[in-house]
Amino acid sequence: MIITIDGPTATGKSTIAKKLASSIGYIFYDTGAMYRMVALEMMRKKVPLEDEELLKTFLRDFECTIKVIRGERKYLIGEEDVTNLIRTEDVSKEASRVSKSPLVREKLVALQRKLAQGVNAVFEGRDMGTVVFPDAALKIFLTASDDIRAKRRLLELQERFPDQTFDFETVKKEMLARDEQDRTRAISPLVKAADAFEIDTSDLSLDEVNFRILECKDLAAQKRKAAK
Ligand code: DC
Repeated sequence: MIITIDGPTATGKSTIAKKLASSIGYIFYDTGAMYRMVALEMMRKKVPLEDEELLKTFLRDFECTIKVIRGERKYLIGEEDVTNLIRTEDVSKEASRVSKSPLVREKLVALQRKLAQGVNAVFEGRDMGTVVFPDAALKIFLTASDDIRAKRRLLELQERFPDQTFDFETVKKEMLARDEQDRTRAISPLVKAADAFEIDTSDLSLDEVNFRILECKDLAAQKRKAAK
């Protein structure tokens, strides 16, 4: 069974997907991390998004893996651990840009569908419920106020990169610009699926969000039963 969680940046998708998955014995996938890995590698190899042939060759050879090492989730390009590197503001910006490319999306959507075969999993991202898994058993769309999201993003950056300083207004401005880009792109834009349950996480604790999702899971199961 597949559960999808979509929504804009810093609405708590990853933290919640992780919590939910562990509470019901599912695995979880952060698909934003996949776009981030592609973006990082394209930056390093200087692959221009506009050059279709170069991009196709790059994508054909691109391999990333997600491993759980001593309980910690690690993101690898080849053998290299890029878990922290993919969380910088530069990579955030570039991930939003490269995710507009149909070729990049085609590659990652195929990978996501492959990972979903025969498993119970929570997938979080932007187009999980709308495009990648339109028949998912349960679809959640998370939201939160701009200020709360920017605060969460700032905290994440400060925790990951304690040697650097970050400015709240800049983080907020860049976050809103990426949201706009994700919402307005031509293919698979960030949008709530018609059959998704929307939860505003601004004033909710992690446990409260998880509880609400479990309620939605029961509701969705009842609806499926009634439709049979
Ligand atoms: O969730 P995140 O901030 O790590 O995602 C990084 C970027 O990747 C985001 O700006 C949009 C893109 N993305 C996407 O287009 N589709 C997904 N399923 C997940 C992320």
